[in-house]
Amino acid sequence: MTQLTPQLRYLPSAQQQALWLENVSIQQLASQVATPFYCYSKAALLSNIHACKAAFEPENIHIHYAMKANSNLSLLRIIAEQGLGVDIVSIGEMRRALSAGFKAQDIVFSGVGKTTAELAEAVLAGVGQFNLESKEELAVLITIADKYQQLVSALIRVNPEVTVDTHKNITTGAKGNKFGVNFSDVLPMLETAEHSPFLKIKGLAMHIGSQIHTTQPYLDAIAKIQRLINELKIQGYLLTQLDLGGGFGIQYKDYQQLTRNTEQQEQQEQQEQQEQHYLAFSDFSNAIKSALAHWQGRISIEPGRSLMADIGVMVCEITYIKESRPTSFVVLNAAMNDLMRPALYQATHALIPVQSPSSSLQTKYDVVGPICESTDTFSKSASLPTDLAAGDLMCFLYTGAYCAVMSNSYNSRPIAAEVLVDDAQAHVIRQAITQDDLMAFEQPSALKLF
Ligand SMILES: Cc1ncc(COP(=O)(O)O)c(C=O)c1O
Repeated sequence: MTQLTPQLRYLPSAQQQALWLENVSIQQLASQVATPFYCYSKAALLSNIHACKAAFEPENIHIHYAMKANSNLSLLRIIAEQGLGVDIVSIGEMRRALSAGFKAQDIVFSGVGKTTAELAEAVLAGVGQFNLESKEELAVLITIADKYQQLVSALIRVNPEVTVDTHKNITTGAKGNKFGVNFSDVLPMLETAEHSPFLKIKGLAMHIGSQIHTTQPYLDAIAKIQRLINELKIQGYLLTQLDLGGGFGIQYKDYQQLTRNTEQQEQQEQQEQQEQHYLAFSDFSNAIKSALAHWQGRISIEPGRSLMADIGVMVCEITYIKESRPTSFVVLNAAMNDLMRPALYQATHALIPVQSPSSSLQTKYDVVGPICESTDTFSKSASLPTDLAAGDLMCFLYTGAYCAVMSNSYNSRPIAAEVLVDDAQAHVIRQAITQDDLMAFEQPSALKLF
């Protein structure tokens, strides 16, 4: 048996080792659900939630799951049942959160471009916290709160302008990013809010980026924010809430790391520990606790990826092994519309065969999808088993976060189904959105305006 990710392992099947997620055979699933499809483990999700709660709740740090990472209703229901709050960035996400059982009071509404209509709906629903991203948004929210005479709690999201060592497309707290306000804008915003009997600014929020592997940027940002809070106190403004955002990084292991034998694995892990230490939730909570040792107010966080990424795989099939020079290709039936992270962020997801290869020989391939874009490339020069063949089932790993949620229908491709595995049971938790479904929205009668 080879354990790959928390609930994913190769188990001996009749002739070969085959992939199982919890007690469900991926092969059996693929005989019932058209590939590509996403597949998640309930046990892995619960284990991540429990680890997160164990690290943060004893420190009285409130967890709001950033549902942009994966907003499937069945997964949201599990998270709501575990007592977490939720962080949303659109009114669509709010409707999902409420329908999944989150209380409005436990919702944080983030996002740089909330519209008047979205803000009004969220105020009327009783959303517990609005993270304001500009003085312009503050003006709109005050108008709404005053109009409906509803008490509204808000935090101001600041841009702490810290350096974060992550992909440039996922830094959000560096100079010039569109998110948050400059520190110098906070005082005028507090002064403006004083005129509203209904809108109360209770604190500051930050979110400095995603896939962060050190605590230093959090410590830098917290130190800056604390200085600002002290200055504001001198001006007569007492802030009592801090929202530190998400961003806790996970380790996306590659095919080589996953398939080493035990001895090689131990050696490699030792080396990796020396080179890069992957942080656990407890590392982040300890850092936050020490940085905010004297803070009396409320602290909250908004993790997304760290709760979701390793709970899921995407199952697909090899359409062709295209032998060519100088590069040979594995052409999959999954594409960038199903899994956008490689095209968006040059991310690489380990790709493994559902049947464990019979030999350890490996060949280099570029792994691509069928879409007519050169960016429809999952990995360049990936080492994969030499005995792969057209028709083989394959799995992309770590596809629980920022994968299914980003899928689209480019090239008139269907939107993949999602499946949830719970021990030996499996349920389709989102049906595929087929080409017929998509075409149904384009019938001429539906387009007639006058
Ligand atoms: C405001 C906000 N909070 C939380 C998150 C979640 O980040 P992560 O998934 O890296 O934990 C994001 C992600 O972009 C975000 O924009």
